[in-house]
Amino acid sequence: MIGRLRSVSGCVLLVYVVTHLSNHALALWSLSLADAWLEWLSAVWRWPPVSVLLLTAFLVHLCMALHSLWRRRTWRMSRWEWAQLLLGLSILPLGMTHVIGTRVAHELHGVYTNHFWVLWPMAADPWQNARQIALVIAVWVHACIGLHFWWRVKPWYPRVLPGLYAFALLLPAMALAGAGVGLGSVLAILEDPARMQSAIAVTRAPSRDEVADLYFLSDLLKVVALALVLLALAARQVRTFWLKRQKGVRLRYAGGPTVAVPAGLSILEASRSQGIAHASVCGGRGRCSTCRVQLGGDVTSLPAPSADEAQVLERLGSPPLVRLACQLRPPPGEYSVMQLLPPDAQPADAYRGTTLAVGEERRMVIMFVDLRGFTALSEKRLPFDVVFLLNRYFRSVGQAVEQAGGRVDKFIGDGMMALFGLESAPEVAARQGLDAARRIGLALAELNQALACELASPLRIGIGLHLGPAIVGVLGHGPATGLTAIGDTVNTASRLESLSKDFGAQLLVSQAVFDAAGLTPAPGEPHEVALRGRSQTLAVRAVADLASLPLS
Ligand code: FES
Repeated sequence: MIGRLRSVSGCVLLVYVVTHLSNHALALWSLSLADAWLEWLSAVWRWPPVSVLLLTAFLVHLCMALHSLWRRRTWRMSRWEWAQLLLGLSILPLGMTHVIGTRVAHELHGVYTNHFWVLWPMAADPWQNARQIALVIAVWVHACIGLHFWWRVKPWYPRVLPGLYAFALLLPAMALAGAGVGLGSVLAILEDPARMQSAIAVTRAPSRDEVADLYFLSDLLKVVALALVLLALAARQVRTFWLKRQKGVRLRYAGGPTVAVPAGLSILEASRSQGIAHASVCGGRGRCSTCRVQLGGDVTSLPAPSADEAQVLERLGSPPLVRLACQLRPPPGEYSVMQLLPPDAQPADAYRGTTLAVGEERRMVIMFVDLRGFTALSEKRLPFDVVFLLNRYFRSVGQAVEQAGGRVDKFIGDGMMALFGLESAPEVAARQGLDAARRIGLALAELNQALACELASPLRIGIGLHLGPAIVGVLGHGPATGLTAIGDTVNTASRLESLSKDFGAQLLVSQAVFDAAGLTPAPGEPHEVALRGRSQTLAVRAVADLASLPLS
């Protein structure tokens, strides 16, 4: 709820800022055009419902900022979080005089706040000029960071990012350039007493005393804003002092240290305060789920998830003891904590939000592909030749798997492992696996044709394909972490690939795959094979030529 209020109020204010900056940018073409547009915009902004909306959005955003200042238990933050916080805090002192001198001056004294009125103080005082530039930068960068942390977990974000970058750079640059052009016009007016008198008359400028009152009001509101920030920080200190006197929280990190922290910290804050790397793609806003942890220990005393946290957990299909580390503030007690994503998790890991990431058993199809005789082939070649050849081969088989709807799990030496059925039923996975095998056969034939002059003999492959239960989850360490499958089905598929050689076949596939795919009559020769580690034989079919597989 709080996160949503902050986002919605921020968006309302951002729309206001964008229209404001676009108005300044118009001055690049013509100051009178910019004034005409400003008049129209002012009519919208001053329309009572819009005024109420803007004021409410401002107050809500301010309250959310004070709340997050109060709620924050540690000052260990990323550089971006620091930047957003400091820029946000600087907006009121930088912008108060501008707001009082325009909107409030209009409401109290009927000032006509055209470009001359806005730019006049800047033309007279370079400090006001610098302050205004700093205000534009602070507001804009603060908003961009907020949007980035909000949107970076959305699947569409990488696609629109280049356009957003361009917009984020162009709009403020054009607004500042437009203000510069307007400033030149204002300076020209100031050098001509007659034009200056008439420009001042148009603005219906207030008296000196009224201007002094406006400055006083601006200073007073700055002091009030500062007092509110200090109050939030003081309240935070009192709470920290009080919590330190309470029994603390002990967290046992899986494969890591056991730490003691004061009660009241979120698990993410506890990790940060102890220097323990912890994924947090959205910066602790409860949106990305990359901070999620599995808990053990005194879990009966844990508070229930908030509505926002529950929504994210539900989307993930998380088991009960999986919680968002940035949202959960465990009461005093001892807990075990297992981070479910590596500390360097990326936005893509966030919207890969399924139970698969946590660990799940699925009936799926596993494929192993091996390039026959590659060791002998590579011995007679230069290293870059080997790399070139392997990469062409990997691209061909990888594309075949993806076109069939599967996922390349990994390349191992000159072999490949692929998964089918991560998001589909076993019947579909079986058809996808067979389709991928057929496509690999076609791709290999094309590759052999393309490399005919380079190869003494055509490339040959062996494929093993099996359907059964496998455990799927995110496994690994550091950069070598990813979604993969483990278990007997994987081992069986690997052994079928090795055995395909003994049958002189391109594909050795378990009958289970054909049964699930509903293919009758199934192509290939039927056999019963005994596999190491299995008490019973396995019904398989040896397919000599991948081209004999039917179209799916
Ligand atoms: S850090 Fe993004 S949900 Fe916790």
